[in-house]
Amino acid sequence: MSSEPTSPRVVSRSHELQSALKGLRRSGQTIGFVPTMGALHEGHLSLVRAARRECDTVVVSIYVNPTQFGRGEDFDRYPRNLEADMRLLSDVGVDWVFAPTDAEMYPEGFDTWVQPGRIAERWENEFRPGHFRGVATVVLKLFCMVGPDRAYFGEKDYQQLLVIRRMVEDFNLPITICACPTVREPDGLAMSSRNAYLSPEHRRQARVLSQSIFDAAERVASGERSPDNLVAAMRKIIAEASDAVIDYAAVVDPNTLEPVSAVTGPVQALLAVRIGGVRLIDNLRLTPPSG
Ligand code: PAJ
Repeated sequence: MSSEPTSPRVVSRSHELQSALKGLRRSGQTIGFVPTMGALHEGHLSLVRAARRECDTVVVSIYVNPTQFGRGEDFDRYPRNLEADMRLLSDVGVDWVFAPTDAEMYPEGFDTWVQPGRIAERWENEFRPGHFRGVATVVLKLFCMVGPDRAYFGEKDYQQLLVIRRMVEDFNLPITICACPTVREPDGLAMSSRNAYLSPEHRRQARVLSQSIFDAAERVASGERSPDNLVAAMRKIIAEASDAVIDYAAVVDPNTLEPVSAVTGPVQALLAVRIGGVRLIDNLRLTPPSG
């Protein structure tokens, strides 16, 4: 239906959105949903384009969710630019932008939370306790407001993707979760709204994240089977950046995120590195040669 680029309609109240979408749903249109925190870049837009291709109506939410930021994190300085975001979304052809206020999402008295289980215990959670509780809670609320058929998430935030998939399964939500590949800058750095925090020197150093996981992928492709050797090689590459501090570097089972003792099938390399105080994450599937 609405495949030509048009200016999205912006709503901030969930009841407006719900009544607008009810009619579309009743007339049999499929709804694709892309939740974001704004400061949009090509990574986000790749999700929006996938939704545009696969669904009749596309809804994008822009909401910097306070409950997924810890104390001392970057909630206050997180980039916010609705105007620039709207321009980008107009070019792709989005139907609805949902940009709620804090009062709309967390009204006085709000007191129910989604507590993700084992999949959320390690890695990000060790450095950002409570982060996935905030993510799962806001995403469930957004799912209830939008009622999408399909929702799009980036592999860039790999643990988040698995947390959402688990929640959808555990709560029997009638939503297909679509995973989209990580979009990278020409030098390999995964696109992120937080890259804007990097000084030119730290931006240069940030290349070590993608370099280390692509190097690990090559090692696995040429026969390396030891996760310890892979992690050691990743750490060595990251150490070439003088201001890099590793939160974690791991080779894990792609479904459970538990560390593996040997590479006997596809595994996931996971990274979180602070460069000059800017925290960056990345990950990559490492696939051994078959046979
Ligand atoms: P945000 O960081 O804005 O990301 C929104 C979506 O874009 C997520 O699914 C994320 O994985 C995806 N994304 C970000 N960078 C990407 C890249 N380089 N390539 C591909 N996809 C990319 O993730 C969040 O917001 C929030 O936690 C949210 C789910 C909206 C809940 O508040």
